[in-house]
Amino acid sequence: MLVRLRTPEAVARAAAAAIVESAFKAIHERGEFRLVLAGGHTPRATYELLATELREEIDWRRVIFYFSDERCVGPDDPASNYRMAKEALFDPLKLQGGSVRRMAGELAPDAAAADYDAEIRAVIADRQPAFDLTLLGMGDEGHTASLFPGSVALEETTRTVAHVTVPADPPDRLTMTPVALAASRQILFLVTGKDKAKALAKVFGGGDDLPAARVAQLGPSRFLVDAPAASKLPE
Ligand code: 6PG
Repeated sequence: MLVRLRTPEAVARAAAAAIVESAFKAIHERGEFRLVLAGGHTPRATYELLATELREEIDWRRVIFYFSDERCVGPDDPASNYRMAKEALFDPLKLQGGSVRRMAGELAPDAAAADYDAEIRAVIADRQPAFDLTLLGMGDEGHTASLFPGSVALEETTRTVAHVTVPADPPDRLTMTPVALAASRQILFLVTGKDKAKALAKVFGGGDDLPAARVAQLGPSRFLVDAPAASKLPE
């Protein structure tokens, strides 16, 4: 499903509102909200809204944060997806305890992937669907999480998390595979900027082979897009 908005700010507000709604429902029905965070730059504005204007709208004590992917760097590295979420969301909220389930980018990649795979398998074994909401971005060639076009991890049917080498910097990544991404009640893609327009047109024009298109077919999903990203879509 495609939700067209005008600006990146509108996408951030719509995403934050969707997270608030999903959190309220999950906490009301199941006592906790399991949220998978996206990396990259786009989600930062959404995280900042949640930590400021909307901070009273969610009982943060009942939220568990997971990551869709991570770069194989330390948590303080500027490239770290965890660091971005920490700056924009975790620190402003002064989160305590084990509510943030970080991918250990600083460890040997295969060991870190195995550790997180074990954690995600346990979450899936505990409850299906395991996650209440999964946030994802999309690269300008159609990748999502760290699942790039042609990646063998797209064909994974057992492991929930894999160590992959990608054609981007830094190349070593940890990523949820389709096995984990399929275990979510809803997937929300946040896509802004004209650089994403070509890939988005492919996703909605039948480009079923793009990772973002394949992941979107794993379950209920919505694309929140701004006008520049939607500029190559049919009116
Ligand atoms: C990452 C992300 C990746 C990201 C897209 C879009 O670790 O980089 O998981 O999938 O969502 O590359 O990135 P931007 O939001 O920075 O455009």
